[in-house]
Amino acid sequence: MKVDVIELFPTVVMSFNLNRDLYQSESDVINKELQNTGRNEGNWTSIADQIFEEDGMQSLSADIMKMAYLYFDHVFKSKNTPELYYVHSWLNVTHSGEFHHAHCHTNSFLSGCYYYKAEEGDCVRFHNLAEQNKMLYFPPKENTKYNARTRLVPIKSGDVVIWKSELHHDVPRLEKERQSPRISLAFNIFLKGNIGEPELRTGLHIG
Ligand SMILES: [Fe+2]
Repeated sequence: MKVDVIELFPTVVMSFNLNRDLYQSESDVINKELQNTGRNEGNWTSIADQIFEEDGMQSLSADIMKMAYLYFDHVFKSKNTPELYYVHSWLNVTHSGEFHHAHCHTNSFLSGCYYYKAEEGDCVRFHNLAEQNKMLYFPPKENTKYNARTRLVPIKSGDVVIWKSELHHDVPRLEKERQSPRISLAFNIFLKGNIGEPELRTGLHIG
C-alpha cells in the first residue's frame, strides 16, 4: 500500500561547533566567574549573568551571535531580520552525581549554550510537552520522532546548541565519574527593530 507520510510543524534545535580554541581572554573570564557560583536546584550557576558583556568576550559573543542569525534565517525565512541581542549570559556547572532541572527560558526568544567542558556521553535533553501531556500513552517498542516524549542531543566541548526559548530541556543526572564538571555558558537572546507587516496592522517596533 502506498502511503504518503506528511510531517507537520517540527521544532528545530541547531547544533554548531565553534571550531576554534577559546582565546586566553575568554577562558580567563570564564575561569574567573567559575570562582563565584551559587547553588541551583541540582547544580551550580554563576552569580554573573552578563558574561558576554565582559572585557575579553567580544569575539566569542560575536561568533555565537552569528550562529543565532543562522538559526533565525534557517527557521523563520523572514522577509526582514530583526537585530538580535543577548539579554543574559551565565555559567552552569554540573558535577558528577548532579543534574540540571527541567525548565524553559521565559522572557526570551532564542536560547542556547556554548559547551566549555563536556565529556563522552554528555547531552542536553529536550522535552516534547505536547506528547507528555496527552491522556493516552502507548509504551513504544521503538522510539521515533512521532512518539518521542524526550530527545537527547549529544554535546561535546566547543559545541554551541541553539533552540527556541520556550522549548523545555534539562540535563539528566551525571552518573559517571568525570575528569571535569560539565560546564556550559548559557545565553538568552531577544530582538529589537521592526517586525510584522504594518499594512496588515501587525507591524511592531521593539526598541
Ligand atoms: Fe536552560
